[in-house]
Amino acid sequence: MSDVLVVYGTKTGCTAGIAEKIGATLAEAGLSADVHPVEKEPEPSGYRAVVVGSGVRAGSWHGAVKEWVTANAEALTSRPVAMFTACLTMASDPEKADEVRAYTDALLAETGITPIDIRLFAGMNEPKAFSLPERLIMKAMKAPQGDFRDYEAVAG
Ligand SMILES: Cc1cc2nc3c(=O)[nH]c(=O)nc-3n(C[C@H](O)[C@H](O)[C@H](O)COP(=O)(O)O)c2cc1C
Repeated sequence: MSDVLVVYGTKTGCTAGIAEKIGATLAEAGLSADVHPVEKEPEPSGYRAVVVGSGVRAGSWHGAVKEWVTANAEALTSRPVAMFTACLTMASDPEKADEVRAYTDALLAETGITPIDIRLFAGMNEPKAFSLPERLIMKAMKAPQGDFRDYEAVAG
């Protein structure tokens, strides 16, 4: 049994890379960590602590991650939980961190979870990873293009 469960939701793989880096950083610190996509429906009750994170669409975490958090709220309120959000605002407008932090406000209010930490990471805008409608939305938003993941920030 590992010390920490790292759960993530991703549409393009962006958040998977961040979650894997968190798992590797925990391992370097001497903790055992299991990193799982939310689709595997990992069971948090056997772990001492949980890290859960998601990419963002239209100001909200992905539905599958919100559902996992809600379904496991009891286990998540009885052990330390840290959260992270990966999104483009943290690359294009990092001064809007309060706006990004608020993406999870409703979920936390609904579940009663009080994370020990909420980290906000720059994600990516790689058009080839998006569907055509998504590409059009990003184009209309004039979002900057690129992979803005900062693995030093993730490990810090
Ligand atoms: C249709 C669409 C809507 C998005 N909405 C937001 C948003 O509201 N705020 C934000 O900061 N980033 C937004 N993003 C950027 C994503 O959160 C970013 O690409 C992130 O890296 C996605 O991570 P994932 O692929 O692991 O889910 C959006 C991207 C797309 C394609």
